[in-house]
Amino acid sequence: MTAPQSPRDDIAEVVLSAEEIAETVDALAARLTEDVGCLQPIMVGVLTGAFVFLADLVRRLDFPLEVDFVEASSYGESTVGGEVVIRIDLTRDVEGRHVVLVDDILDTGRTLSALRSTLRKRGARSVRTCCLLDKPDRREVDFEADYVGAKIPDVFVVGYGLDYAHGHRNLPFIGVLRTELYQSTQA
Ligand code: XMP
Repeated sequence: MTAPQSPRDDIAEVVLSAEEIAETVDALAARLTEDVGCLQPIMVGVLTGAFVFLADLVRRLDFPLEVDFVEASSYGESTVGGEVVIRIDLTRDVEGRHVVLVDDILDTGRTLSALRSTLRKRGARSVRTCCLLDKPDRREVDFEADYVGAKIPDVFVVGYGLDYAHGHRNLPFIGVLRTELYQSTQA
């Protein structure tokens, strides 16, 4: 029986190694500890991509907090004005609470911008946004996250929770897919 192919074989270039990710998450955790360590925040992971990042982040936060998740989709122009389609909603009532929205990557900005508006409308006392990666060149709405791990160019990346066609989320690093993998599915 032949061994199954490793998702590593599909990677052309490593963008952030496991060690670099750990250093980045350490730095974000230190800033969050300073800013929300006394606020008993709800840390809300944006599914699915943020599940690895959130798990690593909260284990570096040595203060009381709660964890929740939301799954949201932005459909092009439909999110202008702060609307987003929530597919899986939070289990917590955010009214009067301090919230930190945690996402894997900030791209057009539509998802986090719209989710922040939604949580503010629900009465959250504060909503901060934190993403591991930011692609500033891709921004389509006027939005910047409060906490950004690393800025990257406009390349499609996978690993550490990020997927391509539902695969590669389990890679412990973040990398760029080999181009022929896109080309073969886009033909
Ligand atoms: P916005 O609303 O900022 O959405 O456009 C960010 C979401 O877009 C997805 N995304 C990516 N997913 N590799 C991925 O696996 C990428 O390079 C990438 N760029 C954007 C991701 O789901 C993120 O939450």
